[in-house]
Parts: sequence; C-alpha cells; structure tokens
Amino acid sequence: MSGAAAALPQTQALFSLAGRVALVTGGASGIGLAIARALGGAGAKLVVCGRRQAALQQACAAISAQGGEAAFVVGDLADRSAIADIAIASAQPFGAPDIVVHAAGMNRRQHWTQVDDAAWDEQIDVMLAAPFFLSRALVPAMAARGWGRILLIASLQSSRAFANSLPYGAAKGGVVQLARAMAEAWSAQGITANAIAPGFFPTALTEAVFEDASRLQAIRRQTACGRTGEMADLQGAAIFLASPASAYVTGQTLYVDGGFSAK
Ligand SMILES: NC(=O)c1ccc[n+]([C@@H]2O[C@H](COP(=O)([O-])OP(=O)(O)OC[C@H]3O[C@@H](n4cnc5c(N)ncnc54)[C@H](OP(=O)(O)O)[C@@H]3O)[C@@H](O)[C@H]2O)c1
Repeated sequence: MSGAAAALPQTQALFSLAGRVALVTGGASGIGLAIARALGGAGAKLVVCGRRQAALQQACAAISAQGGEAAFVVGDLADRSAIADIAIASAQPFGAPDIVVHAAGMNRRQHWTQVDDAAWDEQIDVMLAAPFFLSRALVPAMAARGWGRILLIASLQSSRAFANSLPYGAAKGGVVQLARAMAEAWSAQGITANAIAPGFFPTALTEAVFEDASRLQAIRRQTACGRTGEMADLQGAAIFLASPASAYVTGQTLYVDGGFSAK
C-alpha cells in the first residue's frame, strides 16, 4: 500500500431520509403507523392515507408531537377511480413522494365456502391492485428525480397457506411477484421495489390471533426468536428498504418474522 489510507466510508447518510417525502397507506394504524414513525425518525416527511379521517388526524398529531412532520390524505384504495386523486393529493403537503409504503390491508378470515364477491374484490383490490396503480401514478415524479423507493407489505401467507384466508393469501402471494415485476419495470430509473413480510404483530388485523392463547403459544414456538413481533422490530428493515442504503436491492421480499419461516 502506498500514500495516505483512504478514510472509512461515512455510512450514516446511507440510512438518512432527510429531505425525503414518504406516503404511507394504512399509516393511521398498526404496521403502517409503525413504519411511518420509523421513516419519520430517519428524517422523512410523512403523508399517511386511509379512510378514517379522525384516525389519520390522530396519527399526524402523535407524529408531530414526537418531532416529525406529517399530513394526511383521506381516500379509499378499494375505489380504483380514487387512486389518481390520492396520488395528486399526496404531493400537496410536502411535494411529490420519494417513497411509498403500501400498508393498507385487511384479512376477512372467512372459510372458503363463505368468500363472496365483495370480500374477494376488497382484499385483492386494496392489497394487490392499489399498490400497483398508486405506485404507477407516483413513478413519473420519482423517475424525473432518478430516485424512488416502493415498499410493499407481504406476509407469511405470501409463501404458505393458513386456514380461512384464501383471498388474503392470494393477494399476499401476488405482492411478492408484484415487487419483482415493479423492480423489473422501474429499477433502471433509480426506483427500487421490495416487500417486507412481517410475521405476527399485534394490530387490529391480528386481534383474533392474539386473543387465542393456544394459537399464540404455537406461533411463538414456531419462531426462532421464541416470541411474536413488536412494532420496533419493523423499523430497521423499513428504513433500510426506504433509504439510499438499499440502492442495489430490488425485487426482494425480506421476512421480518423472528425466524418463523426459517423453521
Ligand atoms: N399484523 C400482522 O401481524 C401482519 C402480518 C403480515 C402482514 N400484515 C399486513 O400489514 C398491513 C397492515 O395491517 P395491520 O396489521 O397494521 O392492520 P391495521 O392496523 O388494521 O391496518 C390496516 C390499515 O389499512 C387501512 N385500510 C384498510 N382498507 C383500506 C382502504 N380501502 N383504503 C385505504 N386504507 C385502507 C386502514 O385504515 P382505514 O380503516 O382508516 O381505511 C388501516 O390503517 C396489511 O397489509 C396486512 O396484511 C400484517
């Protein structure tokens, strides 16, 4: 070796979201809110989206009280005709989003004999179709800047089937492939697309599971960590996949499940 040694790389900036705007669907509650708070902690300005204005207002107030900047857009992602307006409205508070997190979702938990057209359509529309159509509406502004991050929320049911979740599993299986297809379409323009597949986290969506003590015990045993997820467990993966650090990671699904899927 000759000459002065090069300095070590300054890696903190890799995980900074300062100056970025993140749109988080489902950001008023549960996993969406947890991810919104994490991205806010890394410096992003937040726009949360959902149907319940009061819940969105409450989430924004909580984020602001904790030192973040947040605004909301009321919209129904099951309504395909509303998606263009949601995309436009999301750019009003802070400018066009650099990051979009698609955390809106539901699991109707019906036996396959009970699944009707409305339940099928709602789950596929909100968790699979809306992430595509909303992302597509946001991509031109991201491409113009040569930088964008799309973060989908997959599930353990992206790769395995649980009872009473047929449309949910179909949507979540699709989400994994959607991340790959979006990556193929948009990554050359600096826009990555990845998914987080959470294990079991306590939210409104999993209330029935967390109330079932024997099921909970079986779930804990199935994980390698010996416990269900805590919201803070999602922070690192979300910041990584939303930040400059993941520039060469695209089309992937990262399981944040305490090793549930590894066993
Ligand atoms: N909790 C877990 O263990 C777990 C595990 C794997 C994957 N996930 C996924 O994580 C995502 C978030 O779920 P969660 O567990 O955090 O449940 P949650 O607290 O019930 O959050 C769901 C969010 O989706 C929004 N939403 C539902 N329908 C919508 C619609 N038509 N238009 C706009 N927003 C809508 C809801 O807001 P409004 O009601 O105000 O619209 C709510 O904020 C879902 O995709 C879920 O499948 C969760």
